[in-house]
Amino acid sequence: MSVAININHALKKYGENVIIPDLNLKIKDGEFFTLLGPSGCGKTTLLRMIAGFNTIEGGEFYFDENIINELDPSKRNIGMVFQNYAIFPHLTVRANVEFGLNNRAFNKKDIGPMADKFLKLMQIFEYRDRMPENLSGGQQQRVALARALVIAPDVLLMDEPLSNLDAKLRLEMRQAIRDIQKEVGITTVYVTHDQEEAMAISDRIAVMELGEIQQIGTPQSIYHRPVNEFVASFIGRTNFVTADCDKNELNVLGHKVTVKDLDYKGKVKVSIRPEEFMLTDDNKAIKAIIKDTIFLGLNTHFYMELPNKQKVEIIKESMIDDENHTGKTVYLTINVDKVNVYTEDGAKNLVIAHEN
Ligand SMILES: Nc1ncnc2c1ncn2[C@@H]1O[C@H](COP(=O)(O)OP(=O)(O)O)[C@@H](O)[C@H]1O
Ligand SMILES: [Mg+2]
Repeated sequence: MSVAININHALKKYGENVIIPDLNLKIKDGEFFTLLGPSGCGKTTLLRMIAGFNTIEGGEFYFDENIINELDPSKRNIGMVFQNYAIFPHLTVRANVEFGLNNRAFNKKDIGPMADKFLKLMQIFEYRDRMPENLSGGQQQRVALARALVIAPDVLLMDEPLSNLDAKLRLEMRQAIRDIQKEVGITTVYVTHDQEEAMAISDRIAVMELGEIQQIGTPQSIYHRPVNEFVASFIGRTNFVTADCDKNELNVLGHKVTVKDLDYKGKVKVSIRPEEFMLTDDNKAIKAIIKDTIFLGLNTHFYMELPNKQKVEIIKESMIDDENHTGKTVYLTINVDKVNVYTEDGAKNLVIAHEN
């Protein structure tokens, strides 16, 4: 049985230091939910409050309608997976997976088949009699996941489980984790500082900074409509260009464009993703000089300088006849459907304000 998690006005302090001032969060039953943010923003702290390994200085934590603030960690029925595999080095793979079952009141004859099921699901059945030291990092992490899931927890908590793996394994394991989570259907809270990983794996993401949630949404909504400058720059890559706004018209370095659902007067910061700049023949558009070109296979990245000396990054699909364009002058326009326009201080998205 998995549960919904409801957090009302959570407060975390270490001594006098307030780490999480006032956090509210609703995680749905069966959801793959990710806490994403830079190192030190409080992701692990919050996860440990859910697990019961941290004291809670204020607010209420619920699993469904049951308050868990005072519940012992062992009674929360949680499966956990950490960055450093935390599997027992002196136990075989099978004994590691069975470990949690032996401590619970299961019928002895059921334990073997239950372990088998998760050994197979995690594709480590063939390694069941090996010692952990004879497994790769990815295989060890599969053991940790099988051990966490075999106890049929209500909630699965994972703290940067892929950080110690190399790039290729990380991609493979993140797919494996997502597949297993969907198959088992367990409410999952996943912590990472890697925005690409978060986007690939999550149903919804909470972007955190300094103990506060900046935005909660699907990967798509967070990428396309970041609520503020912090989220826009933390999720994906973007260019910020200052502009003058008059109702729904933006004047970007002399180039005028109209943006839907915008109504503001004054200086603004426009966020333009590298893929949302378009080349044009119109010499009244934004003039740019190509300063550097980096070929990355599928795409080529162009680093350009605008008339105000600002540098921007532009990504285009690579062409077979791409030559060295460095030094060339080009003209740019912007995909107005996908730009985001922020107040000059970056605190508020002026486009999103008109949605919903
Ligand atoms: N046991 C502790 N005692 C005091 N401060 C801590 C402790 N654990 C974490 N912190 C502080 O709390 C903040 C959040 O840390 P953490 O939750 O580990 O961040 P994250 O997991 O997002 O990298 C940091 O400033 C960190 O220094
Ligand atoms: Mg952490």
